[in-house]
Amino acid sequence: MYQKNLHNKIVELLQQQSLDISKKDSAFFARFIANATAIESLYLQLYAQHPQCDIIWQQLMQLIITTYQQRPQPFLERDTKKLQQEHWFLSNQLAGMSLYVDRFCGNLQNLQNKLDYFTELGVNVLHLMPLFESPLHESDGGYAVSNFRKVDERFGTLKDLQQLQQKMQKQEMYVMLDIVLNHTSHKHEWAEKAKQGDEKYQHFYYMFNDRHIPDQYDASMPEIFPESAPGNFTYVPECNKWVMTVFHQYQWDLNYRNPEVFMVMLDNIFFYANLGVDILRIDAPAFIWKEIGTTCQNLPQAHALLQLIKCCVEVATPGMALLGEAIVAPKKIMQYFGTGLFIAHECDFAYNATQMALQWDALATQDVRVMLAAQEDLVKKPFGTSWITYTRCHDDIGLGYEDNSIRKAGFNPYEHRRYLKNYYSGNIEGSPARGALFSVNPKTQDARISGSLASLCGLEAAQANQNAAAIEESIAKILMMQAQTFFLGGLPMLFYGDEVGYTNDYSYLHDPGKSYDNRWMHRPLIDWDKNKKRNTTGTIENSIFTQTQQLLQLRKQLPILSDYSNIIWLTPHNIHVAGFMRAYGNQRVYALFNYSNKASYLTWYTFKEHGHIPKQLFNHLNQQVYTVGADYEYLILPPYGMFLLEPYEEK
Ligand code: GLC
Repeated sequence: MYQKNLHNKIVELLQQQSLDISKKDSAFFARFIANATAIESLYLQLYAQHPQCDIIWQQLMQLIITTYQQRPQPFLERDTKKLQQEHWFLSNQLAGMSLYVDRFCGNLQNLQNKLDYFTELGVNVLHLMPLFESPLHESDGGYAVSNFRKVDERFGTLKDLQQLQQKMQKQEMYVMLDIVLNHTSHKHEWAEKAKQGDEKYQHFYYMFNDRHIPDQYDASMPEIFPESAPGNFTYVPECNKWVMTVFHQYQWDLNYRNPEVFMVMLDNIFFYANLGVDILRIDAPAFIWKEIGTTCQNLPQAHALLQLIKCCVEVATPGMALLGEAIVAPKKIMQYFGTGLFIAHECDFAYNATQMALQWDALATQDVRVMLAAQEDLVKKPFGTSWITYTRCHDDIGLGYEDNSIRKAGFNPYEHRRYLKNYYSGNIEGSPARGALFSVNPKTQDARISGSLASLCGLEAAQANQNAAAIEESIAKILMMQAQTFFLGGLPMLFYGDEVGYTNDYSYLHDPGKSYDNRWMHRPLIDWDKNKKRNTTGTIENSIFTQTQQLLQLRKQLPILSDYSNIIWLTPHNIHVAGFMRAYGNQRVYALFNYSNKASYLTWYTFKEHGHIPKQLFNHLNQQVYTVGADYEYLILPPYGMFLLEPYEEK
């Protein structure tokens, strides 16, 4: 909706500040006008009743302008380039890796010298795990930030980060950083002031004099870390109050009912944008609005806040894409791409956490039916948005997909999940997986799973038993799991160490700042002698690295693997084989993955169900050509084997 008053106000503000709306700054002006109504209405939806509503509104308008004015020239140019590309982040040319800078190579300066390693592998997007100041033993891997603008000394300085970004930009690489939006460390200046009784800062958090309101919240809020941080409130002796702490006790939830909190955090978002961040990972967005009587997750106001952030970013720093780290049920995840008028105007990316977990489900059960049953929701992802696809990350694997998908596949959800937990925590005889249960809830028996890609795929056990065949099998599983995420559609995000098969690291048990959190078992300390073995033929490292490299190269050669929301899942004629078709124009490829430890037979009819019937198929993974047979004949997939097939005769 066009609003003349708002238009005039913006023109006035921009002219006051000598912006050239007819020439140099015309694109910014156009974006501002286009988004102004949405920004205003979202803001009012959240804050109309707040006494500071008007003052903060003025500040918000000004902040957008100042951010744009302060945006360094190279980023303005990059914005323009990205906008011209249209949805630059959907491209098959991108592949990422997530890593802890200190555990990977010590600090940010060293990382500058490691860029060739990523290029060698085929990775050009780096997700640097939280870098901003965070108390050493109460850090949650950096997700308890005590200063949003100061790089923690462990990693270096802000200048080091800027230098790294510049070097990366020169090499056409992209940076992804986190904004920890939901909470701060209890050592953050705001929290410290709140502890000292400063009311202004007490209103930055959900703080209460007694347990009366906390008890009401607690009645319907689930617990995130029931073992290490039960409950959702923590007593603060310094001010004799209770503060909301959904995650750990040292992570205080910010109160977004207060528009000032929104403003300062938006300012931090813009600060990261003007450091040259290409993708901003919004940590835990599902939690940013709380309401008594609800789970305090995925509330409409949380979406309104994200949409508001998105619209402001679209105006001031449009080259920065937003990733919402919403690890929630599939139907809920989809809402983070925006709904109604805001479709494709909320988060540009979300994690495909459902698919990730379902690949682990299929690997344990050797049955892909649950995976297939869940796709109905996931394929609805709007064009112009994308997934982060992954097999492992720094977090646990949650089994939060719909019970209904499990039922549709013919299983009992409770028993099914129990099996998966036992399988991955090594409680089933014969299970090759070496993982552990994370955050077991004694009341509900809910639990998630920790463990590295390699250990969960059986490499740790196979190595311990010096079983060469089992080692080969685990490598095949690792590659199949990765390949599915590379070909699925979305930006594949590898987790550091997985490219050379790091197994679990149990040293965290001896560190008091980590021993309470077994996610540290899959956050390796890189040993560069081990990584160097990638160059020695015959080593496990070489085998995994080179094959991962080939898969990434292949992805880059096939534009059809860009995320045009062009996926069609194939009928599971064999319950062990997951397959999908990626189609664009006249082109198509079929990706098939055999989740069984035996050969699987797939009727050729599989390729005849979707329009054009190919006569021959070329497998990009082994360069062989297959002739499509009769329906009673089969394509044979080796154990944990995979195919990427393209119709041949059209070539
Ligand atoms: C996100 C992070 C996780 C962290 C939590 C609290 O889920 O990925 O590691 O513990 O947020 O910040």
